[in-house]
Amino acid sequence: MSQVEWVPVASWECHQLRFGIGATRTRGLGASFRERSAGPLQLNTWIPEPAPPQRDPENEQRLRDFLGHFGPEVPAWAADAKLVDFEAQVTAMIDAKPEVISSIMGVYPPHLVKRMKEQKIRWFAVATTVAEAVAAEAAGADAIVAQGVEAGGHRGAFRAEDAKVDLVGLVALLPQIVDAVQIPVIATGGLCDARQTAAALLLGASAVQIGTGLLRCPEAGISTAWADALARSRPEDTVATRAFSGRLGRALKNAYVRAAEAPDAPAPAPYPVQRGLTTPMRTEAAKTHQLDHMMAWAGQSCGLSKAQPAEELVATLWTQVEEMLEPRAQILVQEFPENFGIFRTDVAPAKRPRFDELGGSLDSEDCGEDSNVPTAAVARSGTRNVFEALLHRPRGFCEAWIL
Ligand SMILES: Cc1cc2nc3c(=O)[nH]c(=O)nc-3n(C[C@H](O)[C@H](O)[C@H](O)COP(=O)(O)O)c2cc1C
Repeated sequence: MSQVEWVPVASWECHQLRFGIGATRTRGLGASFRERSAGPLQLNTWIPEPAPPQRDPENEQRLRDFLGHFGPEVPAWAADAKLVDFEAQVTAMIDAKPEVISSIMGVYPPHLVKRMKEQKIRWFAVATTVAEAVAAEAAGADAIVAQGVEAGGHRGAFRAEDAKVDLVGLVALLPQIVDAVQIPVIATGGLCDARQTAAALLLGASAVQIGTGLLRCPEAGISTAWADALARSRPEDTVATRAFSGRLGRALKNAYVRAAEAPDAPAPAPYPVQRGLTTPMRTEAAKTHQLDHMMAWAGQSCGLSKAQPAEELVATLWTQVEEMLEPRAQILVQEFPENFGIFRTDVAPAKRPRFDELGGSLDSEDCGEDSNVPTAAVARSGTRNVFEALLHRPRGFCEAWIL
């Protein structure tokens, strides 16, 4: 992606800076974030394909002609889109010392994983299949982001050619990844409201990651045409398509996507050639708010997204999740004793679960009743508590529920 996005993740103030930018801008953005926020930082990048894209000049010409119907004329050089220097980019990310670096579409090579570990940076790896999750754990990932096929935006399959084949939905994927790995699992894909979030936690997730559900928040700053379309769209109004970048991603079915998915349309070029070819159309559509030519990423739950400030949205969502899970809380601890619990200081002590009775032990810091910092308690050592994995200490904004 060419622009920076600030995305609050799940229920804690962790921000992701997402970019397809080089090392210099990465350094600048990391520094600027640290000046503006004391919160934890997560940086994300794509793992590049092992081989350069195979070019097909004739098809590229067909694509240029085709795209000319949806936007400005596409110059030949648009197909020469270059990739950033991955090694330099990840080095800059590590130097920014974020709490978390996440990956999508593969795993980091061992020497970069080693450098992350030396800096105590946690690595969250997106996986779209059980096999990818197992491979990511073996490569040293600290948490798995289990991405269901419902997800908006790019699909994180490790191999581009598998993305449209291994289409696994989150309800099937999540519990089977939870069973297959020892590290925390973060659920993502089609999670927008409290019912879905509670369900993901019941399926064994340690946390959830919301994408499309935050796009209508004013902080996301997307065009009104895209935001309004999200609100009125149904799951079947989205489609996984290679038509924007060459890698599969889920977007709203606008006029361009429908035409590009038609059998007589030219086949999309590989990434990043297709991304380069669609840049003139996407740039113009963003300027003119022309939804039919926009890269309007959308997950299948876009119709459940709300136009609300992000902080308010997350707080309301979490309160609703707590209400839904409260009657189940103690039963869940017994059923899934390996799961975690964090509780809040504003929850009366009498209402807090008794870890000792439930066979757990407190193994992270307990800040005490009088502290302003919420108490964070983890039910078992070696627990799959994503908050602990993230931070190693209780945080002022910590909000979670006992599972
Ligand atoms: C607009 C948009 C941009 C995204 N960009 C990235 C990205 O750069 N890196 C990444 O790992 N995931 C990216 N994703 C995927 C999300 O991390 C997440 O997997 C997805 O949004 C979850 O599904 P949902 O949109 O249904 O909530 C993006 C998603 C959206 C909607």
